Amino acid sequence: MTGGPGFGLTGQVALVTGAGGGIGTGVARGLADAGAAVVLHARHRTDAVEALAAEIAAAGGRAHTASADLTRPDASRGLVGAAARWGGRLDAVVHCAGVQPVRELAGMDDAAWREVVDVNLHAAFGVVQAAAAHMSGRGGGSITAIASVEGSRPAHGHAHYSAAKAALIMFARAAAGEYGPSGIRVNTVSPGLVDRPGLAGDWPDGVRRWTAAAPLGRLGTPADIGAACVFLASPAASWITGHDLVVDGGVGTRPAW
Ligand SMILES: NC(=O)c1ccc[n+]([C@@H]2O[C@H](COP(=O)([O-])OP(=O)(O)OC[C@H]3O[C@@H](n4cnc5c(N)ncnc54)[C@H](OP(=O)(O)O)[C@@H]3O)[C@@H](O)[C@H]2O)c1
Repeated sequence: MTGGPGFGLTGQVALVTGAGGGIGTGVARGLADAGAAVVLHARHRTDAVEALAAEIAAAGGRAHTASADLTRPDASRGLVGAAARWGGRLDAVVHCAGVQPVRELAGMDDAAWREVVDVNLHAAFGVVQAAAAHMSGRGGGSITAIASVEGSRPAHGHAHYSAAKAALIMFARAAAGEYGPSGIRVNTVSPGLVDRPGLAGDWPDGVRRWTAAAPLGRLGTPADIGAACVFLASPAASWITGHDLVVDGGVGTRPAW
């Protein structure tokens, strides 16, 4: 049997934005477990990424932390540059930073709309452009943005969020077309409902409905999303770009009527 391209990330340097959040933590752990040296970005929760970096180092991995508000001009370029300087190279970026406030359109002012679109879409534009500028001429790389199943099926009170995630999926596909000739792959991962501490208490009805609708009968975990991101960053995915990988326990197989 001939060996195909592998799933490991040994020798890679990866940047995870929003690494202090639930999904970002799972993604960072997955990349580190697969052998990557990881740069863990946070906006405010620097204590969370410091603790995660210590955990990765204790397990024999390499991790570094950085902070930035990615809605600020030039923040993405600064973050990507700092990550590449620390690692001596930059092979993979997983962009997890995002916000998900719930607000009905009838009560939504401009500021609420703009905040969600700024973080979920405009910041992704900055991160992808900065990462691709760095990877061009240096052998390419992989960029994965975390979108959502709501990019194709909106949830109530999430018009701003669903619109931003739909645009993010299309932006990544367009970027894949432009950056492919430079060896840069750009994909999205669209999670369904991912568990976090306290979710069942905060939103029992949502958890019950999701679990009932999912053929696989459970919520997602940050590790489920991390595994998809490891795959997309790995040599095994070297012919995959412009793809939206839905990770939702099969909820998308159910009719909506
Ligand atoms: N949880 C789900 O069920 C689910 C489902 C589908 C998609 N998603 C998507 O998955 C991603 C992660 O979600 P999550 O549930 O892990 O959320 P989370 O725990 O709230 O984490 C979000 C992360 O984004 C960072 N962030 C927010 N605004 C930022 C800004 N202006 N600049 C830089 N960083 C910023 C936060 O940093 P600080 O904490 O340091 O401020 C945090 O690390 C998001 O894109 C979300 O839309 C989540």
